[in-house]
Amino acid sequence: MCGIVGYVGHRPAVEVVIDGLRRLEYRGYDSAGVAVLDGGQLQVERKAGKLANLEKELAARSATGGMPGSLGIGHTRWATHGPPTDGNAHPHVDCDGAFAVVHNGTIENFEELVAGLAERGHARRSDTDTEAVAHLLEERYDGDLAAAVRSVCADLEGSFVLVVAHREQPDLIVAARRNLPLVIGLGEGENFVGSDVTAFIAHTREARAVEQDQVVEVRRSGVIVTDLTGAVVEGASYHVDWDTDAAEKGGYEFFMLKEIDEQPDAVRETLGGRLTPEGLLHLDELDMSDQDIRGIEQVVIIACGSSYHSGLVGKYAIERWCRLPVHVEMASEFRYRDPVVGRSTLVIAISQSGETADTLEALRHAREQKAWVLAVTNTIGSTISRESDAAFYTRGGPEVAVASTKAVIAQLAAMYVVGLYLAQVRGTRDADEVRAHMRDLQEVPDLIATLLERMEPVRELARALKDEPRVLFLGRHVGYPMALEGALKLKELAYVSAEGFPAGEIKHGPIALIEKGTPVVVLAPRHALQAKLINNVQEVRARGARTIVVATDGDESVTPYADHIIWIPDTKSLLTPLLTIVPMQVLSAEMARARGLDVDQPRNLAKSVTVE
Ligand code: F6R
Repeated sequence: MCGIVGYVGHRPAVEVVIDGLRRLEYRGYDSAGVAVLDGGQLQVERKAGKLANLEKELAARSATGGMPGSLGIGHTRWATHGPPTDGNAHPHVDCDGAFAVVHNGTIENFEELVAGLAERGHARRSDTDTEAVAHLLEERYDGDLAAAVRSVCADLEGSFVLVVAHREQPDLIVAARRNLPLVIGLGEGENFVGSDVTAFIAHTREARAVEQDQVVEVRRSGVIVTDLTGAVVEGASYHVDWDTDAAEKGGYEFFMLKEIDEQPDAVRETLGGRLTPEGLLHLDELDMSDQDIRGIEQVVIIACGSSYHSGLVGKYAIERWCRLPVHVEMASEFRYRDPVVGRSTLVIAISQSGETADTLEALRHAREQKAWVLAVTNTIGSTISRESDAAFYTRGGPEVAVASTKAVIAQLAAMYVVGLYLAQVRGTRDADEVRAHMRDLQEVPDLIATLLERMEPVRELARALKDEPRVLFLGRHVGYPMALEGALKLKELAYVSAEGFPAGEIKHGPIALIEKGTPVVVLAPRHALQAKLINNVQEVRARGARTIVVATDGDESVTPYADHIIWIPDTKSLLTPLLTIVPMQVLSAEMARARGLDVDQPRNLAKSVTVE
């Protein structure tokens, strides 16, 4: 999400920075900007839209001397706070243009910071959280830029990579990171920072990673890395031998594999900044009064494909926590069957792209019936977000692979947040329960990270299954939508005939598909219905199925019924989709790889389906 480049050296900085931003384009963005220091002045240019728009502005400047200078910072922004406009594009500056700041991530306590800054007389010029950093630096700077950055970072909550320049510092940029990646590029008489090595690989292949809560002073002659107390931290550089294509994928063979690994951040970012200091949820995005929320009589969720599966999980959460009826509808069917919705219906339209025509038509119809429509989307400014009454943005970051992974897991996180918020306002869950559920949710990103480290046996299994013509997926309760998701992923990526069923349903027909050796993936994390699920596993095993059981760490009750076990960390049973989804993504991607298929661009599919 977002791309960052910083440069101090002997070349024209604007060229180096724009070249770096172009190489980071694959990350996705909706505006771009650059700041270059020359003769004690920071010149800033920012433009909504593609880099070409920014380059046009820069070309127009060349008639009046261009943007000379050999120190610069640049940014491609993927909007999170405020729409993708020129004014919200980075770099942001303080009140008198002494500092230029670019930023990736989200500052969760920015509202608090902005309120304090306003009281102290700073004028805010954008909707972004980033601008607060420029004003805070203005207050803390006493000639030592790195000290000012360290002091500001100590007060920031959330995730960030910051790169800062100051007009009085012709040989220094300062960068800092928390929870998001930042890499230093080490050159001869020039040095770089970037979101990844792609940003500078055209100039140097010597790199050094920046660790959590470290601050980097980058000068022409070298770099100094410190922790937040200012103590110098030694570290080793490494040589990058990827080609440029691999570098864009962060060394991964396919974007999808990278995006699977980015899921802890996708969930962390989507959950971030939703709590008040008292630990309660706020969801201003829903834009409904508490009275209207209490007046909701039913929730209808409309979506397609994987987003529909996220909606199904949302149903289990909202019904459990809010005691409200929830109907989940495939958007393509909803529109054309005269659905019963009205003023007291909350419609949730889920779409990662925000452009899916079926979902768009369905939400238009719901609005005509006077329902309140909340879009849950990963794309700020998308048609679905604009045409809805309100929008909840997931923060999965841009997704390149056609098969959706991190955007879907971010939708799941969003559905839990929406469910809990409705429960809080309607009083069906008390404050302590809401806090406890949020704590459980906030632990999940680390659990996903742990799970991702254990995926080698799943890849091995996928290679062993590569020639299977058919795979079945079973689950109960929230395991059922994830069984559907596992089957969809396998179909679209490996072109294997795959079906997902509620495990209790199998004996009513689908069991006829089982023959000796048929692989059956059973999602069986610890759950109240587990004993029943084990009965279903025994039923398919008795017919010769080869069972692959996804089970909770330490739960030996399932081992007698499993030919293969995939262990997942323990979490509350309602939250298990955030974990069970991961091995199924890995299984599908690796089966596709083993079959020699293009994991990122499966045949016949498009990332954004804009026709009905
Ligand atoms: C599956 C997948 C699709 C999308 C579906 C809806 O991996 O990506 O099934 O989930 O086309 O797309 P959005 O969420 O953009 O509306």
